Amino acid sequence: METELTNDTATEARQTMTQGVDNDNGPSQKERPEVRMRARDLNLWYGNTQALHDINLDMYSREVTALIGPSGCGKSTFLRCLNRMNDLIPEVRLEGRVELDGEDIYDHSVDVVQLRTHVGMVFQKPNPFPKSIYENIAYAPRLHGTGTSRAELDALVESSLKRAGLWNEVADRLDTPGTELSGGQQQRLCIARAIAVNPEVILMDEPASALDPLATATVEELIHELKDNYTIVIVTHNLQQAARVAGYTAFFHMGKIVEFSDTDTLFTNPTEQRTEDYITGRFG
Ligand SMILES: Nc1ncnc2c1ncn2[C@@H]1O[C@H](COP(=O)(O)OP(=O)(O)O)[C@@H](O)[C@H]1O
Ligand SMILES: [Mg+2]
Repeated sequence: METELTNDTATEARQTMTQGVDNDNGPSQKERPEVRMRARDLNLWYGNTQALHDINLDMYSREVTALIGPSGCGKSTFLRCLNRMNDLIPEVRLEGRVELDGEDIYDHSVDVVQLRTHVGMVFQKPNPFPKSIYENIAYAPRLHGTGTSRAELDALVESSLKRAGLWNEVADRLDTPGTELSGGQQQRLCIARAIAVNPEVILMDEPASALDPLATATVEELIHELKDNYTIVIVTHNLQQAARVAGYTAFFHMGKIVEFSDTDTLFTNPTEQRTEDYITGRFG
């Protein structure tokens, strides 16, 4: 049933068709997505100040989950819990659980370096290594032994850059420093670097907020494509961006999740008054 459709309609149509095929109960009942990461009764303190309160959130496989809310509400703090980046801050204390595929990532047996190959992170400000484009991608796989021979690494560099939508722009200059690329290209290089170690989850903290509108659109398109293969959790203060890229959205306020639902419902028919006030611009 291949017809000429615009990109967006095609994607929606494909999803609808896939759900129809995969779901034994018939296409009318929307299939419940698989949970990849899960926070359970998560509380976090910086010293004596509690920054997260009883966070419970399921993050679904092959979906983009957006974390929205006013500045200082705990979005970045929560995101950092998902790959234990808060471990680096000495006065942080944490209670509760964070699970990846049902396993507690805070268990004593977990190797944090290994964990971060499963749960990668992309930051607000693109931060390529001061190395060549090639080395930005090859560095971690070589370190972790996932790419050993030069041919394997070449293939990995190419496939990662292709997945990040950057290959065509840089294929002829892999030896130039990553820092010489434009801001939008640097951010896609950082995404390619995250992809190269074959993660299941990619965390993004306001990945487009330092970019111009055109580069932002390119990165948003990329996020939309990546969701077919990864679980993506993205912090954004840009509500239109959440509406564009995320299938699910959690609204944070003062360290709590006020409301979580599919993005359409959260933006068009929220349950909580505070959500309504925030998305209509009454505060934040
Ligand atoms: N390293 C830190 N040390 C102490 N307090 C922090 C630290 N990082 C964030 N906070 C505090 O935790 C709260 C949540 O911050 P953050 O997670 O950065 O919010 P958001 O990303 O939603 O803007 C804020 O009150 C902030 O001041
Ligand atoms: Mg933040």
